[in-house]
Amino acid sequence: MQAPLFLAQHAVATENYCKDYLDVKRTHVPVRLYDAMLYSLLAGGKRVRPALVLACYQACGGKDMSQAMPAAASIECMHTYSLIHDDLPCMDDDDLRRGKPTCHKQFDEETAVLAADALQALSFEMLADLDADADTRLTLIKEMALAAGCQGMVGGQMMDIEAENQAISDVLEVERIHLHKTGELLRWSCEAGARLAHADDTQFQACSRFGKAVGLLFQIADDILDTTASSEVLGKSAGKDEAQNKATYVSVLGVTKARELADEMCEIALDACKPLKGEAGKQLQALATYILKRGQ
Ligand code: IPE
Ligand code: IPE
Ligand code: MG
Ligand code: MG
Ligand code: MG
Repeated sequence: MQAPLFLAQHAVATENYCKDYLDVKRTHVPVRLYDAMLYSLLAGGKRVRPALVLACYQACGGKDMSQAMPAAASIECMHTYSLIHDDLPCMDDDDLRRGKPTCHKQFDEETAVLAADALQALSFEMLADLDADADTRLTLIKEMALAAGCQGMVGGQMMDIEAENQAISDVLEVERIHLHKTGELLRWSCEAGARLAHADDTQFQACSRFGKAVGLLFQIADDILDTTASSEVLGKSAGKDEAQNKATYVSVLGVTKARELADEMCEIALDACKPLKGEAGKQLQALATYILKRGQ
């Protein structure tokens, strides 16, 4: 399925913000580190998480997109760091990412580890720069720490590694891994957009429920695509999950059942965002459908 046009527009805006933000630092950062950060951050990528921040911000009545942009860029930096580490030889050991050599292949392992570390710190720096009241900024920083850290993405990555070769057959176990390693950053994206727009309770809960459903949907689709799509289409090595005996929706349920579950998860996401009206509400629906169809 063709990606919706607004996804590309949000992507360009986020990339421009990141470029400008890093440009100011250019002369203060070791060249090799700077180049590796920029290489991975601007290597392409669908920019789904920034689009979720921006669409939720608008769907909750936010008008000034520049107010939400640091949060959109921040989550993309956090996500890119997680990808660089995910690809390292000691993790998933991948050579291809976003259609290009992975960071440690293009540079070296030392540089890749440090570029990822720096992107993680940069993510928090961007949040501290938000043009929002101090309470909102602090909340977003704290919630990012929770979503990305040991109780969130990093915790999920640990579960993912520990589940390798364990012949996991319980779908709830896979759900637990995926909600952590992928779901939390997507949920943060939706909730951050809502918070920055000063959403009311109904709007916030809608974004939060939507983010949780879309987070799980995203990783089910990723698991399906790993077995059904080519490396050329994905821009990353296909067939890795089976080769590494990962616990995935496909390994536990098979492709057909995984697709059914993705359909169900998409329905839950669409239902969750119903209270969010207007053009941006439609964008959220389109994003959920796009994430589902990518996996079909
Ligand atoms: C890949 O994320 C890693 C997962 C959490 C499944 P994306 O599919 O969003 O990767 P990019 O950012 O588009 O490259
Ligand atoms: C990665 O999940 C989730 C992250 C925290 C980066 P995967 O290992 O399935 O992601 P891909 O398939 O390599 O993009
Ligand atoms: Mg992985
Ligand atoms: Mg991987
Ligand atoms: Mg994967």
